[in-house]
Amino acid sequence: MSAHATPTPRLTLGDIAKKKAAREPIVMVTAYDYPSAQIADAAGVDMVLVGDSGAMTVLGYDSTVPVTIDEMLMLTKATRRGLTRALLVGDLPFGSYEASDELAISTAQRFVKEAGVDLVKIERGGTTVHRARALVNAGIPVVGHVGLTPQTATALGGYRAQGRTAEAALAVIDDALALQEAGVSLIVVEAVPSQVMAALAPLLRVPTIGIGAGSDADGQVLVFHDLLGIYDGPAAKFVKRYADVRAASVAGVAAYAAEVRSGVYPAPEHGYGMPEGEAARLRESLDTR
Ligand code: KIV
Repeated sequence: MSAHATPTPRLTLGDIAKKKAAREPIVMVTAYDYPSAQIADAAGVDMVLVGDSGAMTVLGYDSTVPVTIDEMLMLTKATRRGLTRALLVGDLPFGSYEASDELAISTAQRFVKEAGVDLVKIERGGTTVHRARALVNAGIPVVGHVGLTPQTATALGGYRAQGRTAEAALAVIDDALALQEAGVSLIVVEAVPSQVMAALAPLLRVPTIGIGAGSDADGQVLVFHDLLGIYDGPAAKFVKRYADVRAASVAGVAAYAAEVRSGVYPAPEHGYGMPEGEAARLRESLDTR
């Protein structure tokens, strides 16, 4: 047997396209640091998104708007170090790409060069379509994001489902088609009625990743902290909790606190000893001082 284990092959965009062609669902999850990336990779997901949802889930902001490029880069670099197989998507934060093609390219290049992302994600249609085209022309693969776009949720009337009337649904569909035309590699579709996703899916060549968009997308994405139940309080309607990590974590830390307070921890097996005779020599040295 070779001394070196065969490295796990990194997935490529070609692999993602093949999954769509084979109607094999694409699995994406968010991650924000080294351990969450390792967990996502060990679970065999196809794509990891360092979403700007990390502004709320790990940095404690009350929306995604305040997070900075440098904060997102720190989270993205840590995630990169934890991944061996899944494709890595970096989320460009609010204010870091909208104003011009040049701004979008220079921000995206930082995510590629400094954090090693495979793709960058940007939100909305409209002027974002121009930014998407500029990024693709600069050689940077792009993930579009339509429907509920949290960076501009205030303008959309809050965190609520989009495309609920025929006119509003057409606007979501037109955004997605324009992004495809601009050359994006994938499109995230967030919080739209399942009928809208069902109408959109057959119109697109590029894979779609749904979140709160029903089951007609080519794949699904959920936020790591949502699906594992890492925080308290209500989650969006589309979230399914697969674990209660917060409860298990609180119980673990409370048990530790109780054992420290009662003297149960640390036990002798958690400590280090001195070699034979050294403790006696130490005592003698202290006594002769
Ligand atoms: O920031 C994020 O986590 C996202 C996903 C919910 C798609 O944009």
